[in-house]
Amino acid sequence: MKKTKLAVFASGSGSNYQAIAEACQDGRINAEIVLLVCDKPGAKVLERAERFGTECFAFNPKEYASREAYETVLATMLDERGVDFVCLAGYMRIVGKVLLERYEQRIVNIHPSLLPSFKGAHAIQDAVDYGVKIFGVTTHFVDETLDGGRIIDQGAIVYEGDDIEELTNLIHNIEHKLYVKTINKLINKKY
Ligand code: GAR
Repeated sequence: MKKTKLAVFASGSGSNYQAIAEACQDGRINAEIVLLVCDKPGAKVLERAERFGTECFAFNPKEYASREAYETVLATMLDERGVDFVCLAGYMRIVGKVLLERYEQRIVNIHPSLLPSFKGAHAIQDAVDYGVKIFGVTTHFVDETLDGGRIIDQGAIVYEGDDIEELTNLIHNIEHKLYVKTINKLINKKY
C-alpha cells in the first residue's frame, strides 16, 4: 500500500518529530516524513532529522517580507513533494491563510494541555500555576488561531506532585503515543 507523505514543522527539540520518524521506520505508521521544516536554524530537531536522513528546510522568518511570503515558499515545497499531511510538532508560529487554504483539513498540531484550556507556549507551567490536577495532551486540526481547531484526540494524566520536570516528561510520553494514533486516524480517514 502506498505510503502517506508527511511534512513535520518544528521549532525546537523535536522529540515529537522523532516519535513520528520512529513510528514510520518501524511500521506503526504507514507513512514517510518527506520534509522537516524548521523556523529556528540551529534547533536540535535538525540534528535529529539528519540522523533519520529526513530532508530539512531551515529558514529564518525575519528574512522574508511577510508570513505570506515564506508560506508561499513552503507551500511550493510541500506541493513538489506530494505532501498529504502537515504535522506541527512544537512549531511555535501561527499558520496563515496561504498554507491553511492550500492544505485545508490537512494540517494538525499537538499541544500539551487539554484544549481549549491553556493555549500558548507555556501550557504546562500555566496549568501548574492554575492548580490543575488532571493534565493532558491534545491533537487537533489547525485553524488561523493559536492552538485552535477541531480536536482529534486527547490523552490525560492525573498528577499531584510538584516536580515540573517529571510532569513534563510524563506529558511528552503521552504526546509521542498520541501523535502516532492521530496520524493513523488521518491516514485511515477516521476522524
Ligand atoms: C511539545 O510539548 C508540543 O506539544 C508543544 O511544544 C513541545 C515541543 O516538543 N507545542 C506547543 O506548545 C504548541 N502550542 P518537542 O520539540 O520535543 O517535540
